[in-house]
Amino acid sequence: MRNGVIAFRRDGTLALMNDEAYRVFGLTPSAGDVGRPFADVLRVCPEIIRVLSGAFELSHLPNRAELRLKELDRVIGYTLSQVKDDGGAPIGAVLFFKDLTQVEQLEERERLRGRLASLGEMAAGIAHELKNPLAGIEVMAGLLRRQVPDSKDAQSLLADILSEAKLANAIVVEMLEFVRPVRLQVERTDLRDVLQQSVMLAESTVPRRDVVVRVLVEEGLPMIDGDHHQLSQVFTNLVANAFEALDGKGALTIVAATATIEADPALAGQYPPTPAVIVDVSDDGPGIPADLTDRIFNPFFTTKVTGTGLGLAIVRKIVDAHDGRIDVSSTPDTGTRFRITLPVSSASGWFK
Ligand SMILES: Nc1ncnc2c1ncn2[C@@H]1O[C@H](COP(=O)(O)OP(=O)(O)OP(=O)(O)O)[C@@H](O)[C@H]1O
Ligand SMILES: [Mg+2]
Repeated sequence: MRNGVIAFRRDGTLALMNDEAYRVFGLTPSAGDVGRPFADVLRVCPEIIRVLSGAFELSHLPNRAELRLKELDRVIGYTLSQVKDDGGAPIGAVLFFKDLTQVEQLEERERLRGRLASLGEMAAGIAHELKNPLAGIEVMAGLLRRQVPDSKDAQSLLADILSEAKLANAIVVEMLEFVRPVRLQVERTDLRDVLQQSVMLAESTVPRRDVVVRVLVEEGLPMIDGDHHQLSQVFTNLVANAFEALDGKGALTIVAATATIEADPALAGQYPPTPAVIVDVSDDGPGIPADLTDRIFNPFFTTKVTGTGLGLAIVRKIVDAHDGRIDVSSTPDTGTRFRITLPVSSASGWFK
């Protein structure tokens, strides 16, 4: 059964709890639980105890309600009903529920994608508007330069104006590059090559110094349908970020292993899970403050003096184009882990 069920008697003792319920609450099924007070068995979930405790007190019991289980970091949708005897007196209650955690995550990703799309449109508009005045500044500064060939001061100021205008233009070009839709050149790609190349490329832009780098690729990892060049851009950006966070000391570990992606919960049961590859890029650096993790994928979000903040925005765009997903988990004690999940063959081909 894909739904969780908990039944209990009027005196608060457990009458039944199915395997799905044990799974959602992270508990191990035990026959001895039946007959114990539900408040004991479900100690890990104060929120559920609160809901169940209302079963005989509330005049309207919750129907299709949602509940966030804080400690377990899960969301459930649930309905609570009384069980009555022949005379209509309540003798117990039943909680039916469904784990909505995955549905929530999908919605969250959809929201983020929408936000990125509108940011991208805005950036494209601004970049386009900036191109003309910048070109004007360059041309006119060039003309002026020729009119004052003898003034050293004016020449040096004009040289500065020109170089600043060129810099601004380079940023605009980079921005336009970013907002352009990704076009993939898909080929059978060996991630082992991609990862090795990415570490080398990242080392050439950020000094690695004493950072220990480990690349662990599972034996027999399948090739995937992907764009070799763009995937190497993904991992180069992640590795460069890790080197920057580590600042010359610590460890960077990349692990690639086979996995599967569960079908959309709405379609569960109709489609088998998709074969996939998971690549974890972990560092034991300072981590990302919790209040910033929402923003790191936004274009131009950076905490670095010289960063442009496009690295992770590009990473996300390329991973999306591969029908993959990216998750980040970070704590100040253990560091940061970016997890990239890529389908072995692209989803569009798979659904055909
Ligand atoms: N491994 C990491 N450890 C700690 N913080 C990180 C890590 N990776 C990313 N970040 C944070 O996320 C921010 C955004 O990263 P992103 O790669 O998008 O931009 P950037 O590195 O600042 O600039 P750019 O990549 O464009 O040069 C970084 O400024 C940093 O604060
Ligand atoms: Mg970066």
